[in-house]
Amino acid sequence: MQTIITEIKRHLPQDEEARRLFHGRGRIFPGYQDLLIDSYGSLLWITLFAARAPAWRAQLAAELRKLRPQTTCIALQRRDLPHEPPEVLYGALPSQAVAHEAGLNYQLRLTAGQNIGFFIDMAVGRKLVRKNSAGKKILNLFSYTCSFSVAALAGGARQVVNIDMNRGALQLGRTNHQLNNLDLRRVSFLPHEIFRSLSRLRKLGPFDLIICDPPFAQGKNFTAETHWPKLIARLGPLLAPAGEVIACLNAPQMSATDLRSIFAENLPHLDEDCYLTAGADFPGADPDRGLTIQHYKQLSKVSYQRTW
Ligand SMILES: C[S@@+](CC[C@H](N)C(=O)[O-])C[C@H]1O[C@@H](n2cnc3c(N)ncnc32)[C@H](O)[C@@H]1O
Repeated sequence: MQTIITEIKRHLPQDEEARRLFHGRGRIFPGYQDLLIDSYGSLLWITLFAARAPAWRAQLAAELRKLRPQTTCIALQRRDLPHEPPEVLYGALPSQAVAHEAGLNYQLRLTAGQNIGFFIDMAVGRKLVRKNSAGKKILNLFSYTCSFSVAALAGGARQVVNIDMNRGALQLGRTNHQLNNLDLRRVSFLPHEIFRSLSRLRKLGPFDLIICDPPFAQGKNFTAETHWPKLIARLGPLLAPAGEVIACLNAPQMSATDLRSIFAENLPHLDEDCYLTAGADFPGADPDRGLTIQHYKQLSKVSYQRTW
């Protein structure tokens, strides 16, 4: 328990900002790779990927309350069990909860299943998108609840097309734009499978920036080894002549180096402009295997032939 307390003290926010307090998944804390703890204002959200004894859970909750006395709710989500509702260890689950990040707000869905509607580890990605969006027409692939779209519009994007096969996630995406008073006339939400929608996307393009943030595995819909090369090979015709790609990789079976090879093979005229990891709140034993965000830009203007 002392390992957890020491680590949390290093990450505790002084404000309401969404923050990862303990990141066991990076495998640098022996015995705790099943544990994540996040802070959303007065809500502390624990994610467990394995069973832990009730006494241990109660002790963790007590330590967390000491570390963050303003806490009104401590909830625990089991990720090793498919449809388990969150267990409230302290207080009461709020009916509405929001993640505050860099002046923007994202609605949380605390009882909707395994994911609460917001990927806290993608803060650096949202910052990168916000910084690179001014005046751009953007395609947000695998958009989920559209956090990149919110960040892009806050950064001055001209237009954002969001596409994800999860209709419910896109509905929350719409709410996220409203929550931040963003102009919905600049956004569209397409509830479709991406690989079957390439012709449609081509008609909506070309895009100045394409964001790719797929899951590491999702049944037949996405498998990193098969679908990353397929995806990157199809982006060319969607890109504007000086178009850019931001690719987010979070697949343990594929490394950042593997993704670079896929870009080199399929879009050789793109140059890697920068490479980011999730940051100091997400320490990992193998930097080539954790979350990586690669930003590619075109070196020169190229025109593409249609490839599908
Ligand atoms: C990692 S989440 C994306 C997170 C998102 N970029 C964000 O900022 O919060 C992956 C998303 O990909 C979607 N997805 C997976 N395979 C897909 C496919 N073939 N076509 C469309 N959406 C897909 C899932 O529904 C899920 O919402």
